[in-house]
Amino acid sequence: MAREGTKKQAQAGQGDALQPTPGGPSKPPKVGTGPASERCRAGSGGEGGVKGQGLLIKGKEEVEEALNLRPRRLAEYIGQGQVVESLGIAIEAAKKRGDAVDHVLLYGPPGLGKTTLAHIIAKEMDVGIVTTSGPALEKGGDLIGILTHLKKGDVFFIDEIHRLPRTVEEYLYSAVEDFAISIVFDKGSHARSYRSRLEKFTLVGATTRAGLISSPLRERFGIQRALDFYTMEELCRVVRRSAALLQVPVDEEGVVEIARRSRGTPRIANRILRRVRDYAQVRHAGVITRPVTQEALELEGIDGEGLTTLDKKFLETVIIHYKGGPVGLEAIAAVLQEETDTLVDMVEPFLLKAGFILRTPKGRKATDKAHGYLGLPKTSAEERQLSFLPGQR
Ligand SMILES: Nc1ncnc2c1ncn2[C@@H]1O[C@H](COP(=O)(O)OP(=O)(O)O)[C@@H](O)[C@H]1O
Ligand SMILES: [Mg+2]
Repeated sequence: MAREGTKKQAQAGQGDALQPTPGGPSKPPKVGTGPASERCRAGSGGEGGVKGQGLLIKGKEEVEEALNLRPRRLAEYIGQGQVVESLGIAIEAAKKRGDAVDHVLLYGPPGLGKTTLAHIIAKEMDVGIVTTSGPALEKGGDLIGILTHLKKGDVFFIDEIHRLPRTVEEYLYSAVEDFAISIVFDKGSHARSYRSRLEKFTLVGATTRAGLISSPLRERFGIQRALDFYTMEELCRVVRRSAALLQVPVDEEGVVEIARRSRGTPRIANRILRRVRDYAQVRHAGVITRPVTQEALELEGIDGEGLTTLDKKFLETVIIHYKGGPVGLEAIAAVLQEETDTLVDMVEPFLLKAGFILRTPKGRKATDKAHGYLGLPKTSAEERQLSFLPGQR
């Protein structure tokens, strides 16, 4: 069961050392894996930035440090117990058989560790990883170029797989099922088809919108797992681990305060930790404590529950503008002048999870908790009937 250990290890280990840039590969870049993909570069997720959401924008600094903070091994990965356990079994079994891991679909809100898991699978399997994202694969040719260069057992990671164009998705079906693709040349009576065999690989797809993936594609994933928000205890572990890696002194109360404001999301915990570190270094003696965290985050517009300005504007829109709801997401997006996608991906999941809003068939409703939290009284049934002018209370 000899695997191409050493050679592949060198590839998979690219982002491995705790160094700022994962670049400088010992091998020249692979032909055909052109700009639509990156080979062996940890952390090259395609989630992009989101405007208008201070906390969620991914800057260069964040991308580089994320590479350092990203767990490399399953044993280092905090939380998501069941997902980690079942992936661990799949990996061990595949290794024993000398086979590739079954295709894996990971879904859940941004920043919970999907990209990290894709890299971990490659690392644990001791294989290479090629990463790309749904929107980067514009044509069938982009996909074929990547597929035909995959090596035995490689992980092929497609981020935002729900944004894969339909035509490209169709090529993927036979590739993941039969490890072969049919390429058609010419049209009409000249048409010739050429079937190319592929090495057996593992497709790892990540998405924030499982609902937008077509069922033929979804059914082809043998392993489908949802990632959930992290508990306070898990977030505290994330903060302690990252603080140790960044060599930032933080006391236990500081750890808890950062975790509490991280909206259940490791990426946000890391981001807050960096902001508070900067603040502690400039304004204080460098040690992160509870008061330092509170001061720093007030400056960042992040409140005690981790709600950002946008979160609060979202809730205020539902409560003040739409009398507590129910109201459609498009209407909220129009008032806030934000993309609906931003609200669906970045704002809503946590507000739902934290019990600030409810999703009903008629739209979003603010809960009692939201009214209480913002100190805004509920609109009575009579008031609703009497109010003809939108936007007035
Ligand atoms: N289980 C975890 N343990 C520790 N840190 C984590 C974990 N999951 C994610 N992170 C941190 O959060 C960041 C974001 O994770 P990422 O995998 O990019 O999220 P996603 O792909 O789901 O948006 C990573 O850079 C990593 O530092
Ligand atoms: Mg990602």
